[in-house]
Amino acid sequence: MKNYKENIIPHDHHVRRQDKERRGGHKSKVLWFTGLSGSGKSTLANGLETYLHNHGISTYILDGDNIRTGLNSDLDFSDKGRKENIRRVAETSKLFIDAGVVVLTAFISPFKEDRANAKAVIGTDDFIEIYVDCPLEVCEARDVKGLYKKARSGEIKHFTGIDSPFEEPERPEIRLNTAINSLEKCLEELKDKIKLKIKL
Ligand code: ADX
Repeated sequence: MKNYKENIIPHDHHVRRQDKERRGGHKSKVLWFTGLSGSGKSTLANGLETYLHNHGISTYILDGDNIRTGLNSDLDFSDKGRKENIRRVAETSKLFIDAGVVVLTAFISPFKEDRANAKAVIGTDDFIEIYVDCPLEVCEARDVKGLYKKARSGEIKHFTGIDSPFEEPERPEIRLNTAINSLEKCLEELKDKIKLKIKL
């Protein structure tokens, strides 16, 4: 393959991230929600975004089910497809933090290595891992989208928790157990912790 990359020279833009953060009145961060399907990632991200938005914070949600209908509609649920899904989401999140926005990502992101790569792309200081911890039995009993039933019957292959693994985060910055605690309680904890992290 021709080395086309050597002919790309990135620009330094005059308006920097710090200028945008100052104008917005808050820091930009990536709040990386990870957990099984049905664990509550999207619900919590939505609740937190509403709170932040109502407090004058610039936010954007990147959500698996939405991104996979557009930017990532060419990707499947094989290990390779998931890896590329997370890689693109990490790169997209990086652009958003450069724009001074608080990004909330809601992806199963089941593989440790992919999450570590995302953290490396985004930067350790800007990446806040939030593990939405909920046992498979509870997610399956909820079965909000009816997908666990389909996975059990073999209609869907490579379903996370059934015939595709979920590698638990070892040291997430925030861990929320949605099986034991109500969503309201989890949300309160999130609000308190995130408020401090985005303070200028
Ligand atoms: S990830 O593993 O690549 O991070 P992502 O978060 O984008 O997954 O998408 C997960 C969503 O896609 C689930 O919430 C579910 O609605 C849907 N889905 C469809 N097929 C699968 C599958 N095989 N495994 C997991 N989720 C699936």
